[in-house]
Amino acid sequence: MSKKNNIILIGFMGVGKGTIARALVKKTDFFAVDTDDLIESAENKKIKKIFKEEGESYFRDLEKKCALWLEKNVDNTVISTGGGFFRQENIHKIGKIIYLESSFEGILNRIHSAPNAKNKLKKRPLLSDLEEAKKLYNQRIKDYEEVADIKIDVENRTIDEIVKDILGSI
Ligand code: S3P
Repeated sequence: MSKKNNIILIGFMGVGKGTIARALVKKTDFFAVDTDDLIESAENKKIKKIFKEEGESYFRDLEKKCALWLEKNVDNTVISTGGGFFRQENIHKIGKIIYLESSFEGILNRIHSAPNAKNKLKKRPLLSDLEEAKKLYNQRIKDYEEVADIKIDVENRTIDEIVKDILGSI
């Protein structure tokens, strides 16, 4: 159990971790950071470019470094994470883990109904092949549940409802 007062949002790509983090900031005195944003600023490179030029395992090493840094340095913060960040060994030491749960179809609907749908797809290298992405989703769902302290159903629910659920459960 973490001694820290962070909220960590985990879940599959496109489920709305960043959106929910920003909504939580509005309702609490927490601030927010996003692991992908931290990595992009540390490398001065977009995730897509890091994957392309350095490969996925280089990116996973950066996630690990980021997780160790968060454990040491960050408190009272909502941390939205990349979809694979939940595998970090120290994740329970960083804070309370909230899994945002949706079906794969629900996630695709959410992405496609966004005004910037094209960009949302383009910036995520692991969503470029939807068949492969679905496989990855199926491989991960049980693991997300296992890692999570709290599971929140986000499908067909408003941001306000989701935020209320999260604040009521922590
Ligand atoms: C990944 C999810 C992405 C990003 C990277 C890898 C994953 O973050 O970290 O492309 O392994 O699921 P989002 O979940 O914000 O799309």
